[in-house]
Amino acid sequence: MRLAERMSRIGTETAFEVLVRARALEAEGRSVIHLEIGEPDFQTPRNIIEAAKTALDEGWTHYGPTQGLPELRQAIARYIARTRGIEVGIEHVSVTPGGKPILFFPMLALIEPGDEVIYPNPGFPIYESMIRFLGGVPVAMPLVEEKAFSFDLGRFERSLSDRTKLIILNSPQNPTGGVIPRRDLERIAELVRDRDVMVLSDEIYSRMCYETPHFSIASLPGMQEKTILLDGFSKTYAMTGWRMGFGVMPEWLVSAVNYLMVNSNSCTASFTQRAGIEALEGPQDESQRMIAEFRRRRDRFVAALNTIPGFRCRTPMGAFYAFPNIRGTGLKSKELADALLTEAGVAALSGTAFGYHGEGYLRLSYANSMENLMEAVTRIRKYLTQTVTAPLKGGSTLEFE
Ligand SMILES: Cc1ncc(COP(=O)(O)O)c(C=O)c1O
Repeated sequence: MRLAERMSRIGTETAFEVLVRARALEAEGRSVIHLEIGEPDFQTPRNIIEAAKTALDEGWTHYGPTQGLPELRQAIARYIARTRGIEVGIEHVSVTPGGKPILFFPMLALIEPGDEVIYPNPGFPIYESMIRFLGGVPVAMPLVEEKAFSFDLGRFERSLSDRTKLIILNSPQNPTGGVIPRRDLERIAELVRDRDVMVLSDEIYSRMCYETPHFSIASLPGMQEKTILLDGFSKTYAMTGWRMGFGVMPEWLVSAVNYLMVNSNSCTASFTQRAGIEALEGPQDESQRMIAEFRRRRDRFVAALNTIPGFRCRTPMGAFYAFPNIRGTGLKSKELADALLTEAGVAALSGTAFGYHGEGYLRLSYANSMENLMEAVTRIRKYLTQTVTAPLKGGSTLEFE
């Protein structure tokens, strides 16, 4: 039996593969510091866990509406209205098991073979995977380090064509930690406002903005009806394993997502949705403490990375990833990521795990303790000084000496 041809076009997320390799090394007794996986190392806030327990006791253990519980959709509509300054009704909200289905379902509903999709590269690997899976044409928008990992707007404009169906934006961005400046979003909106295209704005890291407040393209005039806004609970409330996310989009697309949901998941788990209401409307202090801690780690970790010969790391503006430029080591990204795992005991991801334009970079998640982050830097420095004989170029050691 042969798999359908489309299965040859689907991709994956390397983070999960590196995690398996790291665990295998640990099973052999090796010490590995995990900087590969994109999830907060914090426990879900207590009040949310209690709300889920109460929901279970109260019997929220049955099927619910495909689109999500109306009371959670109401809470989401209020939250998005408050944070994005737009009017949102419960008819615009789809609750799904994680944020990922808000990539999967709307793309499945929109993309036809030959349709062009503009997406960030390096970027979350599921974007390109889904475009190819659906027979779409991936139009990569390289993220430019000099522009704080935003894209070149001239190139963006030239990439728009009559076949462009969808534009994927992600801010704050995985893997670079970049944030698209408001003026760039305004220019993008200007360029697409009168076109027959949709924008999928992945805002899963919206609460992890360290320098400037989060801004959504959906907040710009005329853009709400062209935007699929993806957000969720996984990162903000350390709820990755609960599987709960949501999308805010025009009603005609919600209806398509409902069909796809009813054909696949039926609905998102009911008791987790009850806990979701508590997440959005209950006390925010634990989540805020976690975000403040990410910021503290970011500052120390990035400063320490910049002391590694051959490394040069910009300060990420959001999310919890550092994306150092490692060209000065003279090594390829994958080669260095593999060596760091097997020789130095640091699990990192090659920038190329996020697309072709990730060559020359590593992604290191700082969702780990300060102690482990500093130990990882020590291990990387030791590995590079012992094994790389060519003169290490670049880096920003001078800035930090
Ligand atoms: C950019 C981006 N979008 C979406 C997701 C998916 O989030 P969820 O775990 O809620 O499906 C992730 C998770 O890593 C992500 O990094």
